[in-house]
Amino acid sequence: MDFQLSEEHLQVRDTARKFAQEVLKKGVIERDRDMIHPTEFLKQMGELGFMGMMVDPKYGGGGMDTISYVLAMEELSKIDASSSVAMSVNNSLVCWGLEAFGSEEQKQKYLVPLAKGEVLGAFCLSEPEAGSDATSQKTTAEDKGDYYLLNGTKNWITNGGKASVYLVMAQTHPEKGHRGINCLIVEKDMKGFIVGAKEDKLGIRASDTHTLLFNDVKVPKENRIGEDGFGFKFAMKTLEGGRIGIAAQALGIAAGAYELAVEYSKVRKAFGTEICNHQVIQFKLADMATEIEAARLLTYRAAWLKDQHQDYAIASATAKLFTSEVAMKTTVEAVQIHGGYGYVREYHVERLMRDAKITSIYEGTSEVQRIVISRGVLSGKA
Ligand code: CAA
Repeated sequence: MDFQLSEEHLQVRDTARKFAQEVLKKGVIERDRDMIHPTEFLKQMGELGFMGMMVDPKYGGGGMDTISYVLAMEELSKIDASSSVAMSVNNSLVCWGLEAFGSEEQKQKYLVPLAKGEVLGAFCLSEPEAGSDATSQKTTAEDKGDYYLLNGTKNWITNGGKASVYLVMAQTHPEKGHRGINCLIVEKDMKGFIVGAKEDKLGIRASDTHTLLFNDVKVPKENRIGEDGFGFKFAMKTLEGGRIGIAAQALGIAAGAYELAVEYSKVRKAFGTEICNHQVIQFKLADMATEIEAARLLTYRAAWLKDQHQDYAIASATAKLFTSEVAMKTTVEAVQIHGGYGYVREYHVERLMRDAKITSIYEGTSEVQRIVISRGVLSGKA
């Protein structure tokens, strides 16, 4: 067993850390407050190779491994989880899905600009009545011969208003249940596609989250990913990797809050000394450090399994479940250590606490992760 990161890994981590600290940090409080999308920063992240990190260079990607992706996600999420979720969706759900299951034509047309960070992608599975229960898709893709007629509504779609390429799950053969679902590539300017209301959220407020409406959108047959009826499996396979990205995001949020708490505890004085000299604070820091390290190991392990082409479905669910809970707990403690200062925007930890919550909701709630893990336990796979 080797816990050592390679030179390349350290380089990726340092580049992401520098970019986060020197570029993303400026204005992060205001972007969060006013829900300003980090469009320009995402462009720069594309130039650094962060928008298609794991994609083969022949399709415009960075050709890096999943560990590198996790390291970059962690560093960026310490500062700005709104930017890192856009990056995560683009990398894990859109680029990965297209590279793994798309046709050569789809890869040339859509994957190349996505992987280069020239355009953004969105993954459209959730609906008003199909969140955790993702098989219950109400959006329909009627087979009309050489095209599908797409109708329905998608909810809470990350990059919803800013993307150019949308992977949309829709039901073609209701009588077949989840085996009748297809994934269609929809372009923003297709007639009948409407970007609906933008969500005003608790956290990741600068991330662009929208309802999307599809009214008789004609999607060419060649825009279907995989065989007829492959859409649900496509979504599940893609989310397996997505959950590693969100685990890394949660890890970054937790680590970011922890680092701020350590720093603050060394300068804030109470009862005649810096508060880090009080055992009550020391014990909190020790618990935070221990839990973050456990979360980090679970996340790295899931990434490593993916890189080794081994089954990582349960490992990614385990990493996401644990890490998102650590993110919530750690950020609450970081606010506590900051006292009154922790409750105001200026000190960053209140934003991290609000951002932490979404990591136990999107790309499968904690309850969904428990379903995946417990099925693994009972089938002897975990
Ligand atoms: N890989 C391949 N196939 C899979 C699979 C996987 N990991 N998981 C399930 N399947 C297949 C099953 O084999 C089954 O197919 P067959 O019947 O042909 O064998 C089919 O999918 C249905 O599986 P289940 O019977 O297990 O389905 P279920 O209804 O019990 O639900 C679930 C399982 C795990 C709860 C699943 O519905 C799920 O993951 N729900 C959560 C969806 C989710 O994560 N949504 C997030 C939205 S995306 C997002 O948040 C992006 C963003 O913008 C940030």
